[in-house]
Amino acid sequence: MSVDAATAAPALTVQGISKSFGERRAVRDVSFEIARGELVAIIGPNGAGKTTLLSILAGIQQSDEGSVAQPDGTTARIGWVPQQTAIYGKLTVAQNLRLFAKLEKVSDPEATVERMLDQTGLGERADEELGRLSGGNRQRVNIAVGLLADPPVLLLDEPSGALDPRQRERLWGFITALTQRGTAVIFATHDIAEAERHADRVLVLADGELLFDDAPAELKRIAQADDEHDLEQAFVGFLRDRGH
Ligand SMILES: Nc1ncnc2c1ncn2[C@@H]1O[C@H](COP(=O)(O)OP(=O)(O)OP(=O)(O)O)[C@@H](O)[C@H]1O
Ligand SMILES: [Mg+2]
Repeated sequence: MSVDAATAAPALTVQGISKSFGERRAVRDVSFEIARGELVAIIGPNGAGKTTLLSILAGIQQSDEGSVAQPDGTTARIGWVPQQTAIYGKLTVAQNLRLFAKLEKVSDPEATVERMLDQTGLGERADEELGRLSGGNRQRVNIAVGLLADPPVLLLDEPSGALDPRQRERLWGFITALTQRGTAVIFATHDIAEAERHADRVLVLADGELLFDDAPAELKRIAQADDEHDLEQAFVGFLRDRGH
């Protein structure tokens, strides 16, 4: 986390977000803040509302209640890296980035594409067809698309799910570098160990309800993870004790 994170205005303030699909309440009165440069994990069982919450923060879906605010009432863009991405396998890396830069209406698409190729270390792959890249490199392009408008907040839905351990490490190196430059990052994951290792803070969502919002070490303490019960087991116990 950046040094000034504790004193600066939050990069994002989420207040009382609720969303139902018919009778199903997918997100229930969720509130939290994220500071500049902070890395926050959202964990919770299948159907907990992680994707729904992230897509509301990204402005892809509307909430029934609540608000999402950025500092000074700015409407700075929020970057969004969905699980199912829209990049085209038949286009090259650079062509994809150019296409999305134009769709995003960034002011200088060519310069933006160059900057993203540089930032993601994909310069050498610029002219390769996307469909031929490894999963890890494809995921970099997904993230580059999310970062085209240089957003102060980046949201990622299960970014590492399909990656091997080495590609994961590269992904986390890249995301950590982003946070060091001040970008606030929120990611959803089913990998509890990954949340513990990389996140400054963990949000636990179950049946749409925010059950926990604190440091990973605190979750470990509350869930009574120890040498015998690793965090994943302890987490299952934590949810069970709360009726989930
Ligand atoms: N478009 C939709 N229409 C109806 N129900 C929906 C819709 N999107 C999500 N839901 C429901 O809302 C709840 C939350 O779903 P969501 O996809 O947000 O969960 P999730 O935590 O991302 O789950 P997973 O870990 O499986 O990705 C689920 O019960 C889901 O079935
Ligand atoms: Mg999901």
